Amino acid sequence: MFDWKKIKRPIVGLSPMADFTDSPFCLLCKKFGAQVVYREMVSADAIAHLNEKTLRMAEFDLAERPVVQQIFGSNPETMAKAAQIIEERFKPDAIDLNMGCPAHKIVKSFHGASLMKDPDLAASLVRAVKQAVKVPVSVKTRLGWSNDREILEFVKVLEDAGADLITIHGRTKAQGYSGTANWDRVGEARKNVKIPVLVNGDIVSVETARGALARSNADGVLIARGALGNPWIFAEVSSAESRVPSHKPDMDERVQVVLEHARLQVEHYGEKGLIKLRKHFPWYFKGLPGYKHLRTKLVHVSTLQELEEILVSSIINC
Ligand SMILES: Cc1cc2nc3c(=O)[nH]c(=O)nc-3n(C[C@H](O)[C@H](O)[C@H](O)COP(=O)(O)O)c2cc1C
Repeated sequence: MFDWKKIKRPIVGLSPMADFTDSPFCLLCKKFGAQVVYREMVSADAIAHLNEKTLRMAEFDLAERPVVQQIFGSNPETMAKAAQIIEERFKPDAIDLNMGCPAHKIVKSFHGASLMKDPDLAASLVRAVKQAVKVPVSVKTRLGWSNDREILEFVKVLEDAGADLITIHGRTKAQGYSGTANWDRVGEARKNVKIPVLVNGDIVSVETARGALARSNADGVLIARGALGNPWIFAEVSSAESRVPSHKPDMDERVQVVLEHARLQVEHYGEKGLIKLRKHFPWYFKGLPGYKHLRTKLVHVSTLQELEEILVSSIINC
């Protein structure tokens, strides 16, 4: 059985991102050294109603393990039922509860970050899911709704309810993605609990990972945007003690990784997976010379062979 307390420190994991952390991207990050991958959030309501499309989002490849499946919702019974269905059908290594998403469509139904406004409800969700599944249950949250000190009490409530681990994105809901992540505040919250804590927010390199870990004293990091177009980050951060400087992959290396990502997309989704890959292209190539020209070609790609031809010629022209 997966146990957060037993995995190597610092934990270096892929943070959940809706529309991005699907099976192919998680596999790629795993291959590049992510110790643990969080799959994108799925609606507990949709899972409890056995919605086929949502159930498919929770399927994973065994090579992704350890996999954490995140769910969102605010009804304890529904969350428990969804977690049970996911555990029985897919057997992820752990379940995570989303208590940090600031998107309007999520918070308007009192899901995601709204749960920070009602610690009793948040605790009852943790208790209900803990009772429903055997695997560890964690929570991913923010510093607070609008006050960045709310987390100091909130972590205690989550721990008392039985959470096995808490990930803290060092911003409030009100901040959205503006400003900078406050890793020191994550460190203050970390002192208030005995369970492991992961720090999240603005970790984009070995240097920032080291800074976040030093300032928060957390058990590890979750990396989201810093992994987009940059799966190399996991191996670098995992070997941070050896002081490996950040790696700047050249165009050839980038192209090989994009092609590997594309092959995984096609294996998982069929050729339509290449359309889903389009949103990753800017992350892989933005800022590189010739990207504007490359982009106009990439948006029309519909087969692996076309993609290979375009990318290989882009190396030659680089
Ligand atoms: C496109 C996108 C989708 C996201 N989806 C989720 C999600 O499904 N669940 C979640 O808990 N956080 C989600 N997040 C938040 C990230 O996991 C992370 O907490 C945040 O981006 C800060 O970390 P970073 O600075 O490493 O990106 C998402 C972020 C982005 C940019």
